Order: sequence, then structure tokens, then C-alpha cells
Amino acid sequence: MSVQMKSPISEMNSNESRPLRLADETPAIVVRDVDLYYGDTKALKDVSMDIPKGRVTAFIGPSGCGKSTLLRLIAGLSPITNGQISIAGCAPSDEATEIAFVFQEPTLLPWLNVAANVELPQKLRHLSLNDRVKARDKALELVKLADRGSAFPRQLSGGQKMRVSIARALTLNPKILLLDEPFGALDEMTREHLNEELLSIREQQEWTAFFVTHSVMEAVFLSHRILIMSANPGRIAHEVIVDFPGHRTNETRLSGPYQDLVAEVSRLLRSVEESRV
Ligand SMILES: Nc1ncnc2c1ncn2[C@@H]1O[C@H](COP(=O)(O)OP(=O)(O)OP(=O)(O)O)[C@@H](O)[C@H]1O
Ligand SMILES: [Mg+2]
Repeated sequence: MSVQMKSPISEMNSNESRPLRLADETPAIVVRDVDLYYGDTKALKDVSMDIPKGRVTAFIGPSGCGKSTLLRLIAGLSPITNGQISIAGCAPSDEATEIAFVFQEPTLLPWLNVAANVELPQKLRHLSLNDRVKARDKALELVKLADRGSAFPRQLSGGQKMRVSIARALTLNPKILLLDEPFGALDEMTREHLNEELLSIREQQEWTAFFVTHSVMEAVFLSHRILIMSANPGRIAHEVIVDFPGHRTNETRLSGPYQDLVAEVSRLLRSVEESRV
């Protein structure tokens, strides 16, 4: 198992806009010199990075540092003030980007059952009933809810609702999955369980994932790379590369390298939080 740590970007290169890049990896998302203002408030400053294709990147940082803002820009849900974002050569707002977004809240429609909630994005795209049913059943199977299609959201636990929300995103067969604190509202055990499920789904569907979390343990367990953001204005302060070989399991969480990495990322996060006080 190798764990590679990199210095803060500002130390890597005097040009602080230099994009992050892992060797030999094609970027799925390219972000260049992005600034974002809300009125007079600068929420993001000079954010540049390459999100490698087929990899999982975690995004962690103090509350209010601009994580959700950046995710929304990548999803094409808000306009950029300065700079550029390209998703496999397309603008974020282009339908061809094949991005799916999983929000922090499961955002299920309470009057529709699980099956109808999961089918919704495809229905909005006017896909045939046959295709919709096929994709829906496959997605529900992936999240282990094949037998709950007729249940209503109010009959599900928090973890099950989140799995429905993930299934709904997967029906579109996305190339890129953006997740904003998907498991933030769940207890530790459920979160760990869903983390393992997400990895197992990923082994079957090779999407690129970019997710926001406040949990250092989740970031280390799920990702190949962690970006640590500082606030006021939001910018990327550190990059940590995680390279656990093979399948990650609960055993991974007990390993020395995993725990060392959790300690290191926690230290970097603390340094970022202290530097803004
Ligand atoms: N629509 C908006 N209008 C004005 N300011 C906003 C808006 N959305 C976010 N902000 C501000 O931009 C900054 C970044 O917000 P953002 O929601 O991206 O932070 P975050 O890192 O996701 O925080 P958290 O971890 O609490 O979810 C914050 O200071 C926030 O107050
Ligand atoms: Mg947020």
C-alpha cells in the first residue's frame, strides 16, 4: 500500500493557479482559474484542478469555504464569474456532459413510490417505458432495494432514502457523479455501510466521482485523491493522494496506513481551519 502526500499547491509551484494533475491520468473535469462572486463576496478564488477520469476525488474543508459552490459550477447549475470549466470538452451546462448530482438531502417526491422516484429523470428525458423500467430495476438492484419499489419515501429509513437517491442518479448511466455530503445526515454505522456499497457499485460502473464530505475517514476510505480547501476566499490548499491497492473493505479501516492518512488529513484540515481564525 502506498500513500503519497503532496505539499500545499503554493509550495509546489510559484504559480498558484497551476492545475493539480496525477501522472498518466486523463482528466474528466478540467477547472481553470475559477473565481466566483456572490455580489461583492468572493466565494472562490483561482481554483484550478483536473479531476482524473474513472477516479474518486473527495473535497473537504471548513464550512462556508465554497465546496457546494464549486460542485454546482461543475454541474452547470450556476454561472462562473471568471475562469473555465470543461467536462470532457463540453461546457458544464451542456446536456452531453452526462453528469448526475446527488444532493445532501435525498430530495425524493413524497407522493411517488420508490420505483417512480427512481424513474423520474428518465421520464423527464422522455425515454421509452421499456428502457426506463430496465434502468430503474438495474439501479434498484445495485443499491439493494429491488424489493422496495412499491414503498413510499415516508416508509424508508434515512439510509434507504439516500440509496434511492443514488439509484435515481445511476439510472442515467452517468459518466460523472457529483455528490454533496451524500451521507452527512446518517449515523456512523450506516455511513460506513453505504460507503462500502458505493465502492462496490463503482466496481461495476466505472464513473468518475467528485464528492464533498466533512468526514476525514470517509474521504480516505472512498477516494483516490483528497483536495483540502481553505476559506475566505475558497481555494484549494492541499492535495493528498490515496493509493490503497485492491478492494477496500472494513479491514482497510483497521490498517496502519489508513489510520496514518486519516491523521495526516485531519492535521491538514486543522491547519487550514486555524489559519483563518
Ligand atoms: N446563493 C448565495 N448567495 C450569497 N452567498 C452565498 C450563496 N451560496 C453560498 N454563499 C456563500 O458562499 C460561501 C460558500 O458557500 P458554500 O455553500 O459553497 O460552502 P460549503 O463549503 O459548501 O459549506 P458547508 O460545508 O457548510 O456546506 C459561503 O460564505 C456562503 O455564505
Ligand atoms: Mg455545502
